[in-house]
Amino acid sequence: MQANFYREIFESLRCGILTIDEEGRVTTVNQVARQILNLQNQAPEKVPCRQMLADYPEICRILLESLRMENPPIRFELDLRAQGRPKRMIGGSISHVRGADGSRDGAVLFFKDLTTIEQGEEQERLKDRLAALGHMAAGLAHEIRNPLGNIGTTASLLKRKLSGNDSGIIALDNIVQEVRRLNHTVTQCLEYAKPIHLRPRPVDLPALLAEALQEVRAKWPSGRVEIKETHDPKVSGLQADGIQLRQVLHNLISNAFDAMGGRGNLEIATFLEPASSAPEKDSESFAVIRIRDTGRGITPEVRERLFFPFFTTKPGGSGIGLAIAKKIVDSHQGMIDVESESGQGATFSVKLPYPGSSHAAVEQVYP
Ligand SMILES: Nc1ncnc2c1ncn2[C@@H]1O[C@H](COP(=O)(O)OP(=O)(O)OP(=O)(O)O)[C@@H](O)[C@H]1O
Ligand SMILES: [Mg+2]
Repeated sequence: MQANFYREIFESLRCGILTIDEEGRVTTVNQVARQILNLQNQAPEKVPCRQMLADYPEICRILLESLRMENPPIRFELDLRAQGRPKRMIGGSISHVRGADGSRDGAVLFFKDLTTIEQGEEQERLKDRLAALGHMAAGLAHEIRNPLGNIGTTASLLKRKLSGNDSGIIALDNIVQEVRRLNHTVTQCLEYAKPIHLRPRPVDLPALLAEALQEVRAKWPSGRVEIKETHDPKVSGLQADGIQLRQVLHNLISNAFDAMGGRGNLEIATFLEPASSAPEKDSESFAVIRIRDTGRGITPEVRERLFFPFFTTKPGGSGIGLAIAKKIVDSHQGMIDVESESGQGATFSVKLPYPGSSHAAVEQVYP
């Protein structure tokens, strides 16, 4: 009865616990530890640590070393890079386990998954930087637009006066075209810098996705993209700003088509994810929209700058699509992230608090 009681507590604790004996064999692993380390199918009893945690040599090393220490580490953070799994970060602490007579029996590792906290902090830093950039861009855009308008109009007037002078007309056409292009960039810049007016309402995600897909497909008339969609009906209770969300989906799908050159496979999934994996957000769960393409993938250098306004690798691209998508997702208190390896396609995930704003009638303005 007593043992069962302690076992229940051990299993239901919200932090990962893993114990080893003096010979470095794993003696117990609780449920959270099994989840974080993906050890679901392994019997924990008396398996050597190096065997059971083969994917995590850093954890093994620190645990085994702690057996030889007088004072094991009270607080440490580790990046875990298990093959085939996304990078994770854990924070932990190790204590010695002592028997009834006070002799050392082994060590216990307490740890937590810090991945989403770390990501959240990174996103906060990015948000501050983007806000500053946005203010600067808005000021600059106003200064550029007026003279640009004048250049365009003057060039058009001149063109009319130069009838018969072909080379002059070609040169002026060039000017008008470049002015248009600049104007487009500046308009995009303003679009990014202006505050978002959020009007949360119940949204039909599959319908929004269908609209966004239709818009993008229209730009690729000879494209051949196989689309596989899976939607969890539970997501139907989501409250968000449908117009803004459609813009996010459009931008992500449009990038996926670009990355695949209009040919490949696109997997779209919507589902709910418990908030326990993102405890820093004040929400019960998240509605996730995952868009996976088979395009050229993203290199680590591009990954770093992906969400910066005006970062583009495309000739003729304005580099504003993801910056706007991120701003809209941030305004919903959500998160947007990407997993990709060069040449291996890319997976973008948008996570929105579910069910979302309960004050559907209240309009919020996001800077
Ligand atoms: N699914 C993807 N696969 C590979 N690279 C991507 C993907 N999505 C975005 N990128 C990279 O991120 C860059 C920025 O994307 P973003 O949507 O912000 O701008 P853009 O597509 O270049 O221009 P636009 O403003 O017209 O959208 C892209 O130029 C591309 O290099
Ligand atoms: Mg884009």
